[in-house]
Amino acid sequence: MSMEGYLTFALTKGRLADKTLKLLEHAGISCTEMEDKDTRKLIFVNEEQKVRFFLAKGPDVPTYVEYGVADIGVTGKDTILEEGRRCFEVLDLGFGKCRMCVCGPESARELLEHHEMIRVASKYPNIARDYFYNRKGQTVDIIKLNGSVELGPIVGLSDVIVDIVETGSTLKENGLMVLEEVCPLSARMIVNQVSMRMENERIRRLISQLAEALEKE
Ligand code: PRP
Repeated sequence: MSMEGYLTFALTKGRLADKTLKLLEHAGISCTEMEDKDTRKLIFVNEEQKVRFFLAKGPDVPTYVEYGVADIGVTGKDTILEEGRRCFEVLDLGFGKCRMCVCGPESARELLEHHEMIRVASKYPNIARDYFYNRKGQTVDIIKLNGSVELGPIVGLSDVIVDIVETGSTLKENGLMVLEEVCPLSARMIVNQVSMRMENERIRRLISQLAEALEKE
């Protein structure tokens, strides 16, 4: 469980953590130790404010939060959906905006329309499965990849991909296009279900301070 009296955050290493820390400053929470870009440390503590930060890989953030070793987590909606962990999603932080889409060559449009048995490559097999099976009622074969998913339809591994589209340039440079939109994405704040009850006031105050800061942006 969390260190007593401390509020523990699990942040997604990299750009998302940097942006989250900037936002947390609006709620008076800071951690100067983390500003050292060269550090390899993974845990940071602000004794004065009784806050701790873990720097984790995105998909592990909901895990730390579900198990209660972190009270609060910040990661992408894509990761939250894919991991399907038990936690409360409390705030849309507005940054890291992009879309989860079904993409492929123009020729795949017809396969989608006719609900053909197609092959779908994705880093997000759960999101892809939910979209095709539950939302579209289309039986598909899902192939899990770990990155550079755009290769799938180019080399003939799959008909389409389910992937994140931000600027669209990766698709364009590889002759692919958005065929269907699955959902909009952005960074979200999640809270452990027990922490939400036990630390209710502290967490609620934090959420409203952050929501206010986001409105002013
Ligand atoms: C992501 C995503 C797309 C690309 C989309 O990949 O999977 O490939 O970014 O961005 P764009 O629309 O702005 O081109 P990422 O860079 O995280 O690497 P990966 O392919 O190894 O997952």
